[in-house]
Amino acid sequence: MSNYHIKHLEEYYQVYRKSVRNPEIFWEEIAEEHFLWRKKWDTVLEWDFATPEVKWFQGAQLNITENCIDRHLATRGDKTAILFEPNNPDDDAEHITYNQLYRRVNQFANVLKEQGVKKGDRVCIYVPMIPELAIATLACARIGAIHSVVFAGFSATALATRINDSDCKIVITSDGSYRGAKTIDLKGIVDEALESCDGVESVLVAKRINSDITMKEGRDKWLQPLLDEASNQCKAEVMNAEDPLFILYTSGSTGKPKGMVHTTAGYMVYTAYTFKNAFQYRENDVYWCTADIGWITGHSYIVYGPLCNGATTVMFEGVPSYPDYSRFWDIVEKHKVSQFYTAPTAIRALAKQGVEFVEKHDLSSLKVLGSVGEPINEEAWHWYNDNIGKGKSPIIDSWWQTETGGIMITPIPYVTPTKPTYATLPFIGIQPCIMDEDGQELKGNQVEGRLCIKFPWPSIARTIWGNHQRYKDTYFSTYENKYFTGDGALRDEVGYYRITGRVDDVIIVSGHNLGTAPIEDAINEHPAVAESAIVGFPHDIKGSALYGYVTLKDSGEGRNHDNLRIEINQLISDRIGPIAKLNKIQFTEGLPKTRSGKIMRRILRKIAEKDTSNLGDISTLLNPECVQDIMDNAL
Ligand code: WTA
Repeated sequence: MSNYHIKHLEEYYQVYRKSVRNPEIFWEEIAEEHFLWRKKWDTVLEWDFATPEVKWFQGAQLNITENCIDRHLATRGDKTAILFEPNNPDDDAEHITYNQLYRRVNQFANVLKEQGVKKGDRVCIYVPMIPELAIATLACARIGAIHSVVFAGFSATALATRINDSDCKIVITSDGSYRGAKTIDLKGIVDEALESCDGVESVLVAKRINSDITMKEGRDKWLQPLLDEASNQCKAEVMNAEDPLFILYTSGSTGKPKGMVHTTAGYMVYTAYTFKNAFQYRENDVYWCTADIGWITGHSYIVYGPLCNGATTVMFEGVPSYPDYSRFWDIVEKHKVSQFYTAPTAIRALAKQGVEFVEKHDLSSLKVLGSVGEPINEEAWHWYNDNIGKGKSPIIDSWWQTETGGIMITPIPYVTPTKPTYATLPFIGIQPCIMDEDGQELKGNQVEGRLCIKFPWPSIARTIWGNHQRYKDTYFSTYENKYFTGDGALRDEVGYYRITGRVDDVIIVSGHNLGTAPIEDAINEHPAVAESAIVGFPHDIKGSALYGYVTLKDSGEGRNHDNLRIEINQLISDRIGPIAKLNKIQFTEGLPKTRSGKIMRRILRKIAEKDTSNLGDISTLLNPECVQDIMDNAL
C-alpha cells in the first residue's frame, strides 16, 4: 500500500526517505493505486537534466478528465464539485455537482469539436472566474486540446502576444466581467487583441454581464445556444502520458513571456497527491483557493488537484474588498470553508483594514490556512495566524512556481510544526539543494544560497512552448544537472527552508549579500507601515546602497517623515544589522504590482537608479497610475 495520506511527522520522514531512495518505486505505487489508466506505463521515469528531458510514465494512456470527473460519478455524483460564489453577495451561489459537471464539460467539449478543434490544437481561454472558465479548461482536456488560459485581467497587447506565441485558432471569452462594483469590457479587449492575431478563426462568447457588444460576423458566436444544442456525452480522447495538457505563460526577468508546457500523467499524479496532503483534505471538507484560474495556483489547486480527489472546490468571482473588506470571511462562514489558500498580498491588504471585518464572522470551520506566491512576512504571518486561524489552524507557507506545476516545499498541516516565514520541509519526492555562486552545493544546515532541485518530480514543466533552448538556458544552465529555481533560500539548524526571494533581487552592499525579504519584514514590523519594497541603487563607496519604498497605514498619516525614517532604520538595524540600513526612504501611496499581486521591483529599481527612460510595458500592472507618482517624488 502506498502512503497516499500522510498523518504524522514520523510517517512523513519515512515516506520521504522512500521517495528519494527509490523514486520510481514510490511514484509507481502512488500512480498505480490512486488513478484511472487506460493503459499502464512501460517505464516510470526517463530523465536527463543536461539535454534537458524528463518523461514520466512513458507508454501510459489516460484522460485527466476521467480522473477528475467520470470516476467519481458512481460514488459522488450528487456531491458538489464546483461551488461558485458570484461577485454580488446577493446572488445565489451555484452548486455544480459531479454529475452536472460531467454533462457540462461534455457539452462544451462537443461544441469545441464542432468548431473544428482537434487533439493537440491550442485553445486560448480568456474568461473571468465564472464556471465556464473551469468547464472550458476541462473540455479542452476532454478532447486532448491544449488549453492556454490567459488571466482575464491582462491587456489586449499581453493577450495578443500569448495567442500568437502558441498559435491559438480559437478564443473563448465572455461579454464582460464583474470586478467588485465595476464591470470590465472583456470582449472589447479580445477584439482589440485580435486585430493583431491573424490565426484566430473563431471566438466563443459566454454571456455574463448582458452588455451590448458587437459580434463579428463569421468569427464570433454566443456560447450558450451552441451548448444547448450539444450532446452531453463525449468520449474522452485517449492521451499519452507525455502529451501536453496545457501551456501557461509566466513572465521572465527579460524578454517575452515564457509558455511553460505541462504534460498529462505526471502533472495529474503530482497535483492530486500534493493537494490531498498539503491541505489534509477529507471527504466532506469545503476547500477554497482564492487565486484566479489564470495562474498556476488556480490550475493545480482549484481545478485539477481538488477534482482529482473528488473534492468540493470553491470558485470566487469577486474581490476581497467588495462590498466591503469582510467578504472573504463572509464566504468562509457561509460555505463553512475548511481549507483557505491565499496570497500574502491579500493578507496584508486585509490586515491593513483592521480586525473589525473579521470579528463579525464565525470562522470555526477553518482547519488549514495556506499562503503562496511570495515570501510571507512575519507580521502578516502572525496576523493570519492570530486573527484568522485563532492559533488553531496551521499555516502552510507553500513554495512553488508555475514551472514546478505543484507545491514543492511546505509544511504538511498537523504534521510539520510550522515556523513563521519558513516554508519548512520539502514535499515527498522533492530533493532541494542550496548552491553557492561558484556552483558548489552547500551541504549541512545553516547555509544560505541559491535554491535548486536535484532530481525530477512528476509535474516539472517539460519545455517552453516553441523554445526548448530558452528552457535549457533559463533553468538548467546555471548549475550542472540541476533545475535552478531563480530563488534564494536558507536552510536553518533543523533543516527547514526559508525562501529569501528572487535572486535577481539580492543586493550586495559593501560586499554583503542582503535579501530584500528580511529587510522588508523588519520595516513592516513598524506599526505605521503597510507595505514596503527594497531595491539597490549605485553608490560610490558601497557599490550598491538600499532604497526603500514604503506605504503607510492610515495610522501613519500626518506623522513626521524624518522621524519615521529614523525609526525604520533603527528597526532594520536591530533586526538585521546596521549594514542593512536604507540610504533613502520614499513614502508612496502605492507600490506597482503585477496582476497577481507581486511587487514589480524592476520598475522601482529603475526609478531608484534614475533611469526612467525605458520602464518597459507598465500597462499590464494592477495599478499603473502609481508609477508616475513615485517618479515625481523620487529621492
Ligand atoms: C515566489 C506561484 C516565498 C518565488 C505558485 C517563486 C514564494 C515565484 C512562495 C513563483 C512562498 C511562491 N514563499 N516565495 N511560499 N511561493 N514564491 O510562478 O519567488 O507565480 O519563484 O508561482 O513566487 O511564482 P509563480
